[in-house]
Amino acid sequence: MKYIHLSVLLIFANIFLNKTITNSKNSIIMTHTNNETVYTLPALTYSYNALEPHFDQMTMEIHHTKHHQAYVTNLNAAIKDTEMSMMSLEELMKNISRFPVAVRNNGGGHYNHDLFWKILSPDGGGAPSGELASAINSTFGSFDQFKEAFSTAAKTRFGSGWAWLSIDENGQLFISSTANQDNPLMDVVEKRGTPLLGLDVWEHAYYLKFQNRRPDYIDTFWHIINWEEVEKRYLALKK
Ligand SMILES: [Fe+2]
Repeated sequence: MKYIHLSVLLIFANIFLNKTITNSKNSIIMTHTNNETVYTLPALTYSYNALEPHFDQMTMEIHHTKHHQAYVTNLNAAIKDTEMSMMSLEELMKNISRFPVAVRNNGGGHYNHDLFWKILSPDGGGAPSGELASAINSTFGSFDQFKEAFSTAAKTRFGSGWAWLSIDENGQLFISSTANQDNPLMDVVEKRGTPLLGLDVWEHAYYLKFQNRRPDYIDTFWHIINWEEVEKRYLALKK
């Protein structure tokens, strides 16, 4: 009789616990459903052939629809139903050391490419103007010296990665490069700041047109930089 009582008690306890766990899970899932971020591939504001003859149409199309899309798809899979799906992309980047490597690689890939498409323009090139030009001149000596230092950072990045012009927390400009899909926002890089301009030096960005000639790809980049966009970003963040 004692055993029967115990069995009944265990059955009720089990039902109670299961119900509690189910309710708890459901409430978390519902919260996620209401607030979670699902990233999408941003549309370009120009056509795939618009940056010819500098960046070729096929590279642009594959880079955007295959490589960038893969980062978006994999980022969504990596954050689904976790606390990460309720954070902004910038927050994820700034705390990336706490999160899985899939979020570092694919979140970085999405952030970096989203910036990259925006700082390119068929009407780009030339030199910056206004306050950004003054800041570049005072920080690096001249625009030509800046170009030289940025190009060197891009050329000497071993393997895959990015070269950056960023602004730090004191409003100072600096050049850096990062490996893979890391970027200066991340709490794992040597020098932290907010990127204003980035150049993708992964082979997928240039190999179809330039093969192994990364320096030629870097030289052509200067013809299509959207300095208006870079200046807009600088003005929003300068002290
Ligand atoms: Fe890329």
